Amino acid sequence: MPKLGSFDLRHGLVLAPILDVTTSPFRKLCFKYGADMAFEPMVWTNYILMATQKFLDSVVTRPEEHPLGFQLITTRPEQVKPALDVLESLPYDLYDLNVGCPSRNVTKLGAGGALLGNLPLLEEIVAEMAKHAVKPFSLKIRVGLSTSDALLPVLQLAKDHGADFVTIHARTVSQGYGGTADWSLIHLAKNKFPDIPIVGNGDVRSPENARDLLDTFSCEGVMIGRTAMKNPRIFQSCAAFLEQKSLPSIAHREIFTDFLEFLQDTLADQKVRPFDLRAVRGTLQNFCSGFPLARRLRMEINNLTSTEELRAFATRMLDESDPIEINSPRPG
Ligand SMILES: Cc1cc2nc3c(=O)[nH]c(=O)nc-3n(C[C@H](O)[C@H](O)[C@H](O)COP(=O)(O)O)c2cc1C
Repeated sequence: MPKLGSFDLRHGLVLAPILDVTTSPFRKLCFKYGADMAFEPMVWTNYILMATQKFLDSVVTRPEEHPLGFQLITTRPEQVKPALDVLESLPYDLYDLNVGCPSRNVTKLGAGGALLGNLPLLEEIVAEMAKHAVKPFSLKIRVGLSTSDALLPVLQLAKDHGADFVTIHARTVSQGYGGTADWSLIHLAKNKFPDIPIVGNGDVRSPENARDLLDTFSCEGVMIGRTAMKNPRIFQSCAAFLEQKSLPSIAHREIFTDFLEFLQDTLADQKVRPFDLRAVRGTLQNFCSGFPLARRLRMEINNLTSTEELRAFATRMLDESDPIEINSPRPG
């Protein structure tokens, strides 16, 4: 059983934090399909401290989504302790530091991926987390700014300060989301720091990819982002594959049962008011990916303006007699 610090995970399958996507209902779906751990997308320490009540009002979690990590982003070591104090009463199981975000809006402030070019500041922040976190903590890093030169020093720093594990997105910051993730760097990290549990991340699109990171590259965990966004059932396929069971046969229309469940859960949540139709439409459009006529479906979804219309659309997609043709295999 893969072990990430104090967490025993069934298969080591982790849902990536994705801003505006990995909301509580979406995370719950992924746990249902076999994810073993998930993360809240990044939140600035500044926001937690300057808009504390607004922040607390926005927190939505469900008992079904544990272990659940909370991801902080900051350039201010002195804000780490007070932010952790606010978080302590919330139902998160671990804290994570964002050391990888490549967005210009973030890096120009010196945060996220930019910390890979400012190791003294990164060390100060990590030292504060180590000193004040009463729960396990991890780092989510990229391999460096434009080369992989930060990878080993950052792992040393994580080791020195007792991080429970490190997630490595095997791209440089300047790569953004382009090019390919270089898993050989994950292999290098594992060889140099065999004692640090590593979650491998970047371009995991199939159960075989997950198996490679876990077995060939000896990672304790594998994190999946964009593939899960389009198809949360990737976790189900990975779990079956890793258990050497036959892959569940998934009726392609059934992806829309996911959506109905997502919708139900979102509507049931008193905190999600006013109801964010745009985000829900986005989720449904992601689920269309890979289907024939996806373009047409996406345009149709764009025109859905009420929860009733969304529900009717998803129900229609489940109806086999509907002429919309959804019959080709989905990837992954
Ligand atoms: C739209 C979008 C938003 C993201 N938001 C976050 C975030 O809040 N925190 C974070 O650490 N990574 C974030 N990521 C990066 C993902 O967690 C993940 O590391 C990356 O997508 C690579 O994994 P993948 O190839 O499986 O998608 C985001 C990625 C995308 C595409």
